[in-house]
Parts: sequence; C-alpha cells; structure tokens
Amino acid sequence: MENEDFDGMILTQVNNIKYLSNYSPTSFAVCIIKEDPLILTSPMDKELANKTSSIKVEEFKSFSEIEKIFKKGGLKKIAIESSLATGIYKKIQGSWDLEIKDFLETERMIKSSDEINNMNKALAISHKSFKKLNIREKWEKSATEWEVAYELGYLMRENGASEESFETIVATGANSSLPHAKCENKKLETPILMDWGCKFKGYCSDTSRTIVHSEKQEEIFDIVLEAQTKAIDSIKPGIKVCEIDKIARSIITEYGYGDNFIHSTGHSLGLDIHEKPNVSKKDETILEKNMVITIEPGIYLEDTFGVRIEDMVKIGHKGEIMGNLPYKI
Ligand code: GLY
Ligand code: MN
Repeated sequence: MENEDFDGMILTQVNNIKYLSNYSPTSFAVCIIKEDPLILTSPMDKELANKTSSIKVEEFKSFSEIEKIFKKGGLKKIAIESSLATGIYKKIQGSWDLEIKDFLETERMIKSSDEINNMNKALAISHKSFKKLNIREKWEKSATEWEVAYELGYLMRENGASEESFETIVATGANSSLPHAKCENKKLETPILMDWGCKFKGYCSDTSRTIVHSEKQEEIFDIVLEAQTKAIDSIKPGIKVCEIDKIARSIITEYGYGDNFIHSTGHSLGLDIHEKPNVSKKDETILEKNMVITIEPGIYLEDTFGVRIEDMVKIGHKGEIMGNLPYKI
C-alpha cells in the first residue's frame, strides 16, 4: 500500500479478514487498514471477534462511522477489493478516491509454512477418509451418490476436519459429464467421478479421482492422466500458469478431445477453495515457490460420461504433488 501511495484499505471478504486478523466473520464485518487498523463487527460477532482477532475490534453501527474514520484519519486514497458489493461501494463513496486493488489476494498467493502444513493436514484427512470409504465396495453394494457424499463428509469430520471445503461431487454414469454435477439419490454407476476436500484450521484440500470400468472410459482416463502428468512435470518457478494450461490442453487436443475440456486446468487454493491464480488460458501469473495449485484436466462427453483427475501441487524447485493417492482406484 505504501509503495502505491494508498492511505488505507477497506476489506469485507471474510477470508481476507481472517487472513489478517485470525477472526473469521460469521456476519457482516469490515476491516479498515490504516496506521491503526480496526475491525467493525456486528453485535452478534463481537464476542468471537474479541476472542480471536489480533486487530482491534469495535461494533459496527452505520456506514457513516466508516466515513468519519476516513475523514479523521485523513485517508484520501483508499484501496477496495474487486469483490466489494456495489451497495457498500455506493454507501462509502465520498470525497476520497476508492480504487480497486486486490492486495490481499496477491499476498495470499504465496503460502507460509503454517498454511502449507494446514493444507497438507486437510489433504491427509481427506485421503484417509476416502480410503476408509472404499468406493469400489460402495459400488458393488449399490450405494447411492448421496450416501457416498454424506458418508465421506462424516468420515472427514471424524478424522479431524472442520467441514467440507465445498459440496462433495459424486457424479456417476452420465452425470459425470457435468463438471460440477449435484449428487442425486441414485445408485452408483460407472464411471464414478468424485471431487472432494475438507478444511483444517480453515485451509482447504481438493482432489478428484474417476473410477472407470469400460474400455472407452479407460481410454479417456489414460488421456486425462497423461495431460495431468505432463502438466505437473512442466511446473517450476518462473513459468506462467497459462503455459501449464496450454500443455494440458494441447495433449487433450492432440487426441481429438480439445472441445471436451471445458474448464481451466486448475486453480490456487488456501483459505478459499478457489484463489488467485487461475491455471487458465488467460492468466499470466508467474509461478513462485510456495504457491499451491491444483492440476485437474478433464474430458466431458455430453450425455455420456466424464473423467477428471485432480491433485494439489506445491511449487518447490519443481511441482511437488501433495499426498500420494493412487490414480487407479
Ligand atoms: N473442486 C471443485 C473445483 O475446483 O471447482
Ligand atoms: Mn479443484
């Protein structure tokens, strides 16, 4: 902020506030970064904030309080998040300059060793729980997508997770051609595409595996695995994430399925399941040591089936796959 002559910043994103203060708002809260930073919370969060925040806390009363703080502190050039709600933006407009600057999202791209430890722990819990679930046995016993998703959620909590990092995907048979399919109350069919993760101390894990059965499913699986392996092998500090996307995409395209790879190759994650950078065609972010990204190419054949394989990768001297869950389940 100093380098770019900002006098202050206003934050409302829950995980930006948690990242800075350790307090995770459950209701509206605003953090004002200035010489003497301050968090304003709703009365219902005051106790939680007082107990957990490393930044001074006061009660949020009205937006005019924020204006008074800007005026009193002589704050003229103030950074806002690109995600700031338009309604709030309108309420805090005044005789100061509000400029979008995602300082926190950029800061959060490089993980500390504590953050990486928390993600490793979340991943270990999610893999241990997946193994305990025994998805092949569930299939043989004709369990439903719902049963599998809820049992996995239970196991992850039992093994130490606080919650799922997103709604577990158990997409089977033709449902697997939808990358973000919702679980249904229907018996498992093949392929079984599972995408799951959990949180440990607020930090997310994210993994996908597809259990294939027919020859065609295996053929697609092998292409996706080749794309994923080669993309991971290309990872090193200094490479742009769009170049990694290009490697995965070009392999799938060579086999004739380029139009069936309908999402980006991966994303970063941390406190949020999707963080900057996005491993996509357009993102030119350069990888640096201690970033953590997913590599998750997929091929989706409309109304037929889909295959996705996803791992978390830490950037060291090269790409280091986190966890060691087998691909063939
Ligand atoms: N695991 C869900 C996603 O990355 O979109
Ligand atoms: Mn993912």
